[in-house]
Amino acid sequence: MDERSQRGLCGVVLAGGWGTRLLPLTTSTNKHLMPVYDEPMICKSVATLARMGITEIMVVLGGYSGNSFFALLGDGHRYGLDIRYAYQEQAGGIAEALRLTEGFVGDRCVAVILGDNVFEKSMKVHSDAFLKDTKNECYLFLKPVNDPSSFGIAWIDSDGRIVNMEEKPQASDSNLAITGLYLYTPRVYEMIDEILETTGYSSRGELEITDINRLFMEKNLAKGCYFDCHWADCGTIDALLETSVLMRDWNLGPWLPPLRD
Ligand code: DAU
Repeated sequence: MDERSQRGLCGVVLAGGWGTRLLPLTTSTNKHLMPVYDEPMICKSVATLARMGITEIMVVLGGYSGNSFFALLGDGHRYGLDIRYAYQEQAGGIAEALRLTEGFVGDRCVAVILGDNVFEKSMKVHSDAFLKDTKNECYLFLKPVNDPSSFGIAWIDSDGRIVNMEEKPQASDSNLAITGLYLYTPRVYEMIDEILETTGYSSRGELEITDINRLFMEKNLAKGCYFDCHWADCGTIDALLETSVLMRDWNLGPWLPPLRD
């Protein structure tokens, strides 16, 4: 068995931030507890990690709804999972939230998913490939979008390799969004420290995940993955509604059904 597989793959769900684009829904409830049709949003991201065969997961929370997350997910045993929690005090960005998980991840590889991202199908084929990959230390999942200014955007060369990326570009000749699922080796925490020491927080006060991913790209360690299923970022009212309607139409039932009481 190769080294990465031996050390294993754990998961991180990032559920901090203020969810301001869903106001007033998020005035009294954390965005990730909003219903996506028949299930709280966070169940979709946890299920994406579970479908990769991951059982050990850390959820990074923010805001004031800690008790509601515990009531829903608890320690994970009802879902056949082992769930721990970390707390991000401010909405200092995705990379800041990820930094809190360094002790939990240790020397393992980690699949990181944003708690508002919904992937229709399993990404296990990619996480299995990542564990066997001896070169790339970062996998990014790319999907064409209609509104590039709302996402982290990647530019690729004719071989599909990422040659540039930018967070929410004003005008862009690429429409390839970097979705909110990332596979990393533990080197990601070195990259976060490097960004803290150099670029630092962005003008909007966030430690940007795109800066971390760009560092991997510059060191020739990042790979773009293409996938053939529906993906949604449920961070806006319209996306939340659209994804809920899709869930109803697909009639799949909840993605994270409890195994037992
Ligand atoms: O969904 C994909 C997009 O997600 C990427 O294309 C962007 O590169 C990435 O920056 C992100 O953009 P958003 O504008 O959608 O990020 P948002 O602020 O909505 O945060 C997404 C999730 O990240 C949120 O549901 C919880 C987590 N988060 C966010 C922040 C700002 C945290 O855990 N802590 C934070 O401080």
